[in-house]
Amino acid sequence: MEKRAVTMEKLVALCKARGIIFPGSEIYGGMGNTWDYGPVGVEIKNNIKRAWWKRFVQESDNSFGVDAAILMNSRVWEASGHTTSFSDPKMDCKQCKTRHRADNLIEAHSKGAVNPDVMSNEDMEAYIREHKVHCPNCGGFDWTPIRTFNLMFETSRGVTDESQNKIYLRPETAQGEFVNFLNVQRTTRAKVPFGIAQIGKAFRNEITPGNFIFRTIEFEQMEHQWFCKDGTDAEFYAQFKEKAFTFLVDLGFKKEHLRFHDHDKLAHYAKAACDIQYLYPMGWQELNGIHNRTDYDLSRHQEYSGKTMTYIDPVNGERFIPYVIEYSIGADRLMLAVLSEAYDEEPLEGGDVRNVLRFHPAIAAYKAAVLPLQKNLSPQAKELLATLKKYFSVTYDEAGSIGKRYRRQDEIGTPFCITADFDTVENGTFTVRDRDTMSQIRLDANGIIAFLTEKTAF
Ligand code: GAP
Repeated sequence: MEKRAVTMEKLVALCKARGIIFPGSEIYGGMGNTWDYGPVGVEIKNNIKRAWWKRFVQESDNSFGVDAAILMNSRVWEASGHTTSFSDPKMDCKQCKTRHRADNLIEAHSKGAVNPDVMSNEDMEAYIREHKVHCPNCGGFDWTPIRTFNLMFETSRGVTDESQNKIYLRPETAQGEFVNFLNVQRTTRAKVPFGIAQIGKAFRNEITPGNFIFRTIEFEQMEHQWFCKDGTDAEFYAQFKEKAFTFLVDLGFKKEHLRFHDHDKLAHYAKAACDIQYLYPMGWQELNGIHNRTDYDLSRHQEYSGKTMTYIDPVNGERFIPYVIEYSIGADRLMLAVLSEAYDEEPLEGGDVRNVLRFHPAIAAYKAAVLPLQKNLSPQAKELLATLKKYFSVTYDEAGSIGKRYRRQDEIGTPFCITADFDTVENGTFTVRDRDTMSQIRLDANGIIAFLTEKTAF
């Protein structure tokens, strides 16, 4: 088995030290399962979202974006089934008063050998009793029966108490795509099959085992719904599995760190469902999902809203409610996978170790760092910086030895370091150092723009 340098502890420490991700509300002692992206992290995450959007909207022949409201009419969540069945099975430890997910307790106890997804609440309670699954917090064995808790965060709207209405923070972005199906179809004149994509925040009141940004209560989803005709759905389901996998490989993931996992238990409306799992530092876990949701979503919205969701084929006049192939991935969960995959410790001559994030250059926060070899070369370096900033996200550093400055950029994954040195004064060229190979070439400002444009494209 391949030995990887990455551990969750190292990632969390690096992210905090280098401005990638900080604990949420830290000065108040934190707030469980919330994280804030710092100056470097926000750039990386934006680049991940940009790469996804480029692949699934910009480069697609027939996919369109929306940015729907987070707060939606409560009827949306009745139609989608979230008000009645979006819940986790939870048990309280009577001894230390902590709350736990029964399915997580079983998965951890059996080291993944038992799949709680296919068990009823009674089966899970029986397993926990028979296998004497203890509380991971206090070691006690005194559980309440399983109770189900809805995962949606509730809030209320209205200016006076009397007019308050319960509303929800959306637990997925998908419904904003479904309710706009005909708006998008009409305004783009798209013909089925076509897709609607969205990137946005979602909220779930989850109990999580604390794997950094893997599962949080506030997160971003990148979701794509493909509307197609019944009978073509199986083919498109296979296509989206392939497309989702290729996207990850193109981002730089090793194929052996990814695998498909077909769902054992399907939702009653689903025809097929699978995840792509990634080998995270804590083991294989879901990275994204691909689902054949049939015509369930649009049919339910037609039923609950009283408005037609029927598509009329412009060629033969046929009327039907399309099937949906959903591809859904968490931006933060992908960020954790990208960081885990990129993390490397490279032994150097003399016993030193170099920490490097070997991102795809398109994902790196800064495409280049401009460094004057000495302070008196900063005018040349700053002139180049001003030119490059018009085209790329670039950073500047003149503090410390050149070696230390290279290391700082390696640690945040900057693919190229560009140094102004004595030859710059003579002939206007700079050294361009490659993060991965540490090899150097010389280029002038126009050469650098062309070089970075080519090397950082996704
Ligand atoms: N619309 C379908 C849907 O929301 P899901 O499997 O619940 O399906 C899709 O979520 C993706 O969203 C997951 O594969 C994961 O990448 C991400 N995700 C879900 N819950 C999350 C959480 N609590 N924290 C971070 N990412 C999450």
